[in-house]
Amino acid sequence: MCSAHVVGWGKYVPERVLTNAELGRMVDTSDEWIRSRTGISERRIAGDGETTATMATQAAWRALETAGVAPAQLDLIIVATATPDHAFPATGCLVQDALGARNAAAFDLSAGCTGFVYALGVAADMITADGNRTGRSGSGKIALVIGAETLSRITDWTDRATCVLFGDGAGAVVLQGNGAQGGVLATMLRADGSGGDLLRLPAGGSEEPASHRTVSERRHYLRMRGREVFRFAVKAMPDAVRETLQDAGLTPADVDLIIPHQANERILEVAARSLDVSPEVMYSNLDRYGNTSAASIPIALCEAADEGRIQRDDLVVCVGFGAGLTWGASALRWSVPLPTEPPTVLRRGRYAALQSYAWVRSMVRRFVRWLFSRGVKEQ
Ligand code: ACO
Repeated sequence: MCSAHVVGWGKYVPERVLTNAELGRMVDTSDEWIRSRTGISERRIAGDGETTATMATQAAWRALETAGVAPAQLDLIIVATATPDHAFPATGCLVQDALGARNAAAFDLSAGCTGFVYALGVAADMITADGNRTGRSGSGKIALVIGAETLSRITDWTDRATCVLFGDGAGAVVLQGNGAQGGVLATMLRADGSGGDLLRLPAGGSEEPASHRTVSERRHYLRMRGREVFRFAVKAMPDAVRETLQDAGLTPADVDLIIPHQANERILEVAARSLDVSPEVMYSNLDRYGNTSAASIPIALCEAADEGRIQRDDLVVCVGFGAGLTWGASALRWSVPLPTEPPTVLRRGRYAALQSYAWVRSMVRRFVRWLFSRGVKEQ
């Protein structure tokens, strides 16, 4: 039987660090309040020229390099994000072009902070299904699943209730369909749109297109009813973990590591208690990155793998909740050995060459398209 295996992982976070002390100079808050209420000490903020697509592309190259997969081998790219570069084209297509992934389908997936878990479930189904949906059929299909966000661009930096929570970054995994044991064992995805108003970006869509009024009323910044989201999260997260494990014939006691959406340390503590697992089983890097929405789980997964917190045959559960409302979890048996040495100079060189090739390919295609458009005009 064909199942989907994580064979590569990579992350990218911007260099700029924004500390709680700096935030204390911007709004009426303090390091003490932020750390005790959320567990966050600092977060990363995208710099000039950095966007969701550029960060997603960086994370993607790292994941491809870990996997030893070339962009041309990709059948599918999904970018989970609530902060795409544009409403269209999809950020997934920008990443496809930047990688030179000439055989891949590409699209974005919007499910708030649960976006990565949704994308993992969709990609796993697409690459393991019989048929031809991703361009090729049979075992060996490969997907790139990315979670990437530039939340700093939709954060109201005058609102202390939200601006202390969020950060920017991207994480990616390479998923391969093959007949090996393990991989993605079970996934559960849920939504409840009746809670959509708890966490939303009011303007900029078809309901409230951008206007002078929407800008002056700061309606292009995210708004959240934090206390209610908290209440939803502490129930949704453990429920999702339990239900997914049950589908796979397992229990929380079997789990080696839970990679939860990184929103609030207190939510992680309540979820660990509810599942009756030790707090160490609940991976957290919240203190360094804050809540990076759809990027938080793949960034954490990548750090856990790089720190040796995941070993071959470990049972790992990714679990998220967020805007929508959405929630979900994916249980996977880690089926590849963790690299014990850094990539060789040869591999580094190969990926540097692939990056240059992708850039040249994109430029040539743009140039040819421009030439043809001039030809059409002159006719
Ligand atoms: N600094 C100082 N005081 C603050 C701050 C701040 N940054 N923010 C709020 N306060 C004040 C409030 O004004 C309030 O004051 P009051 O009692 O005088 O009215 C007091 O602190 C308590 O406010 P609460 O909102 O009740 O604080 P709470 O303990 O609930 O913590 C928080 C707020 C951290 C937002 C919490 O509710 C939470 O984590 N909720 C979940 C949020 C979440 O997970 N969001 C991500 C969803 S995922 C996605 O899709 C993006």
